[in-house]
Amino acid sequence: MDKIFIDGGKQLAGSVDISGAKNAVLPIMASALIANGKSVISRVPKLRDTYTMIRLMEIIGAKCSFKDDILTVDGTSVNNPEAPYDLVKTMRASFYVLGPLIARFGYVKVSLPGGCAWGPRPVDLHLKALEKLGAKITLKSGYIIAKADKLIGKTIDLDFPSVGATGNILMAAVTAEGTTIINNAAREPEIDQVCKYLISMGANIKGSGSSKIIIHGVEKLHSANVEIIPDRIEAGTFLAAGAILGKITLNKLNPKHLVSVINNLQEIGCEIETTQDSITISPADIIKPFDLKAEVYPGFPTDLQAQWMAIMILAKGSSKVTDMVYYDRFSHIPELNRFGANIRLNKNTAYIDGVKILKGAPVMSTDIRASASLIIAGLAAEGVTEVSRIYHIDRGYEKIENKFKLLGAEIWRENKL
Ligand code: EPU
Repeated sequence: MDKIFIDGGKQLAGSVDISGAKNAVLPIMASALIANGKSVISRVPKLRDTYTMIRLMEIIGAKCSFKDDILTVDGTSVNNPEAPYDLVKTMRASFYVLGPLIARFGYVKVSLPGGCAWGPRPVDLHLKALEKLGAKITLKSGYIIAKADKLIGKTIDLDFPSVGATGNILMAAVTAEGTTIINNAAREPEIDQVCKYLISMGANIKGSGSSKIIIHGVEKLHSANVEIIPDRIEAGTFLAAGAILGKITLNKLNPKHLVSVINNLQEIGCEIETTQDSITISPADIIKPFDLKAEVYPGFPTDLQAQWMAIMILAKGSSKVTDMVYYDRFSHIPELNRFGANIRLNKNTAYIDGVKILKGAPVMSTDIRASASLIIAGLAAEGVTEVSRIYHIDRGYEKIENKFKLLGAEIWRENKL
């Protein structure tokens, strides 16, 4: 099993390019299942999750080819509307095939995702919405089976602006009869891109990027090409490293997607310069303590909560980090404490007393973003850190160690049995 090793305590400098967004490419690949024909998706990140989605698309019958960062999906041969447990259990985003496949076949069988490392993560909002559109849903041997002769547009009031439920409703409703309105829809840039992609496929959608999305059903969609937006979470991860480790520039990103992150970094004493597609961060001389709440977009993203904590463990004073999206997403705390951090958890709030130095340690990845926080802490710590179970990090970051090497970090991957 591969491990990442870091000889920490070195300053970072230089620049890196940000890759395409994982959380945009996965639903966009699923959207391509709705239509016959070839869709060319560019700026596709080479991630474990991208490859898992390709495997799933091929099981469903799509033809995929992936070269450099260009993924071609031909949906013409799609003939098997089923997502098996083996894949869904390794990547919850597999559940994104629910919407497009019921739209296309009036039938879909998808394994019910189980819990994940940090909690239950239910899919009730997806299922309630599909039922509202007229699907009959049953659970059989761990699989959700959804059937509908015809989906009929309705108004759906989401209890929570779920990213995945909004994506699935969009993909199901584009070819439903009549009008579907999603109230309290997710406003994340990745969902905005899904809307725009579906529009380019012939869908009639109004209100993209807002909390009220209106979908007038059309008879059919056609294939279309798209370039994936930059990964704001990858960018935020490198910004968190820059905040404590040196002046770095991140290129090929969209600063508008990172407003809350930039504001908070400035609040704790970092200097930020932006252009249309880059951000340069200079670290704070002294990191000021800060109370953070991770929220839905445009609030500070839960996907950067762990990385933010890796900054605050070195702040001068006491800080809090509260996660309002996932109440249990704190598996990084005991691992960060192994570096000498001082973090206590009470419900969904972490209480952090800043320390002056961190010491390298063997630590274990537990999920994508928790792993990123361990790498940042390892880069800041004195001595050697060994991060195990790094398959988590490969799910969401394209060769993270190579990008950090470009910035001058001493970080490498080894195959250790
Ligand atoms: N929720 C429900 N019922 C549902 C769906 C969601 O109660 O049917 C709750 C969840 O338990 C959670 C909240 O609603 O408390 C938000 O979940 P959401 O559905 O918005 O999350 P998701 O679609 O499962 C996506 C990202 C996550 C990211 C969240 C929140 C993808 C593939 N995944 O998940 O990304 O954390 O939105 O922004 O887009 C990651 O990249 O590391 C990651 C976990």
